[in-house]
Amino acid sequence: MAVSNDRTLDLDRDSLVAWYLRNRERSRRLFDLIDPDVYYSRPIALRNPIVFYEGHLPAFSIISLINRGLGRPGIDGRLERLFARGIDPDTVDSAAPRTGASTQWPSRQEVLAFGRAADEVVLTALREAPFVEDRPAMQHGEAVFTALEHEAMHQETLLYMWHRLPHAHKHRPVDLAYELGGTPAGRETVEIPAGDATLGADRAAGRFGWDNEFGLLRVSCRPSTSTSTTSPTPPFSSSWRPAATPGAICGAATSGRGCRPRASATRHSG
Ligand SMILES: [Fe+2]
Repeated sequence: MAVSNDRTLDLDRDSLVAWYLRNRERSRRLFDLIDPDVYYSRPIALRNPIVFYEGHLPAFSIISLINRGLGRPGIDGRLERLFARGIDPDTVDSAAPRTGASTQWPSRQEVLAFGRAADEVVLTALREAPFVEDRPAMQHGEAVFTALEHEAMHQETLLYMWHRLPHAHKHRPVDLAYELGGTPAGRETVEIPAGDATLGADRAAGRFGWDNEFGLLRVSCRPSTSTSTTSPTPPFSSSWRPAATPGAICGAATSGRGCRPRASATRHSG
């Protein structure tokens, strides 16, 4: 673990505020897509009911940024505990009690009020709180970026949960526009020159990333060709093959010349 110090983080607060507001607006629009009748349902058995996620997003921002990052109290200990844990249950059986009598989910009005209160506290912190690396959670601004990235990450989760809901319980977005007509994009061959591909990042570089993004791997790729648009299934399946060398991370290109890990490829563990 990095050693705490008093270094002030040079973060662009306006960008952080805009990022947070963008996240919240997108979440609002996602929850507006579903029928209130399914708010307490669980479209995926191994996930929490929908109500949980509307509370979990602001609760996690409070926990990550306000509690862990700044060492400040939250706004509602009961709701923050209820909405803290977003990890999937191990089994359907262990998940079941969460929708039973033992779990008293708050009304939607209460969840929304909690979200508004959390927004106010988080936005004030993003605008004015001292961002100093004086706590382990604030190293490299981790508490800030964890909160911001977490909400966007869950938006993907919400979308595939919504996908399981019956159509009758979903609304079409008010500004949805289908791209119909027009000329399909043409397909052309793209030459990809030889070069190094870098995957992941070195934790010591001090940039934010989730655990599974760390470990730097650099591979040397030979020249290859590809097509500029997604291939229909038959050409894709007949042309793309996994590289033969164990551990290779690039698929073979249409030319059959793929990538191989460089002999000296180094994995840096955090
Ligand atoms: Fe979460």
